[in-house]
Amino acid sequence: MGANKGNAKDPADHFNKEVDDRLAILDRLEKVKHTVVVLSGKGGVGKSTVAVNLAAALADAGRKVGIMDIDIHGPSVPRMFGMSDAQVEAVGGSIIPVDTMWGLKMMSIAFFLKKTDAVIWRGPLKMGVIKQFLKDVEWGELDYLIVDCPPGTGDEPLSIVQLLGSPTGAVVVTTPQDVAVDAVRRSITFCEQVKLPLLGVVENMAGFVCPECGAKVDIFGENGGKKLAEEVGTELLASIPLSVELTPRCDGGRPVALDRESPIGEIYRRMAEKLDGKVAGKD
Ligand SMILES: Nc1ncnc2c1ncn2[C@@H]1O[C@H](COP(=O)(O)OP(=O)(O)OP(=O)(O)O)[C@@H](O)[C@H]1O
Ligand SMILES: [Mg+2]
Repeated sequence: MGANKGNAKDPADHFNKEVDDRLAILDRLEKVKHTVVVLSGKGGVGKSTVAVNLAAALADAGRKVGIMDIDIHGPSVPRMFGMSDAQVEAVGGSIIPVDTMWGLKMMSIAFFLKKTDAVIWRGPLKMGVIKQFLKDVEWGELDYLIVDCPPGTGDEPLSIVQLLGSPTGAVVVTTPQDVAVDAVRRSITFCEQVKLPLLGVVENMAGFVCPECGAKVDIFGENGGKKLAEEVGTELLASIPLSVELTPRCDGGRPVALDRESPIGEIYRRMAEKLDGKVAGKD
């Protein structure tokens, strides 16, 4: 027993370090009014597309916006802003977020990884990286910091909620399909368990209108997100159809929410307006 004593970590040191980290995060985020976490229990339902277009639409409406991509295994936000090759600058002890062309600040784990890296990290390491992000990135004054999460309710969403302390809330994304809705229900339970207010549900990939004949096909079923929102007593922030416009826009790096001519862009702008109205009401 006695021989090990010298090697044992002092719990007081650990506690002090936790307190220091928490204070450093609070300091960095002092001028950030609202943090909104975009979540889904299911992969590939359009979280990143929704996060990017929500951020772009809020910026388009004159809000000061930052977006943080904490998808360690599959970061996609830089590509969706056409900034995959951006160089991150560090000044003093601060990491400066990348300025997109649309007056929106962005930071992603992707900037610290090689494009072909497969990240095999366990929970504590992921938590460490997210903590570092929050401690070191100088966001400055923001109305909104939008956080794009990987699918599920694992280490990353849990870390971000714990580290942020009291985020403004979560936007939960689903497709109308029962399989997705079942998984997304778990995200809502997660929100309840970690006391993260639910700001609303976004139903994505809701129907496809054939550009040739105009027929509507409900490829992933119908109204699943709407019913889920009703069931849990929250707002359906948007129902976004499957659109041939979206993938080239995402890959091409210009969020469709910035396109005034696009009906899909209009849906994203109305979604942002609804969320802004809801959150601003809490100011
Ligand atoms: N409404 C839509 N219409 C057509 N394509 C869409 C739509 N929404 C998203 N997509 C496309 O679906 C794919 C998945 O979208 P996205 O990467 O946003 O999902 P995700 O939930 O973030 O995925 P992951 O779980 O891997 O993080 C992308 O190719 C995107 O361009
Ligand atoms: Mg994603």
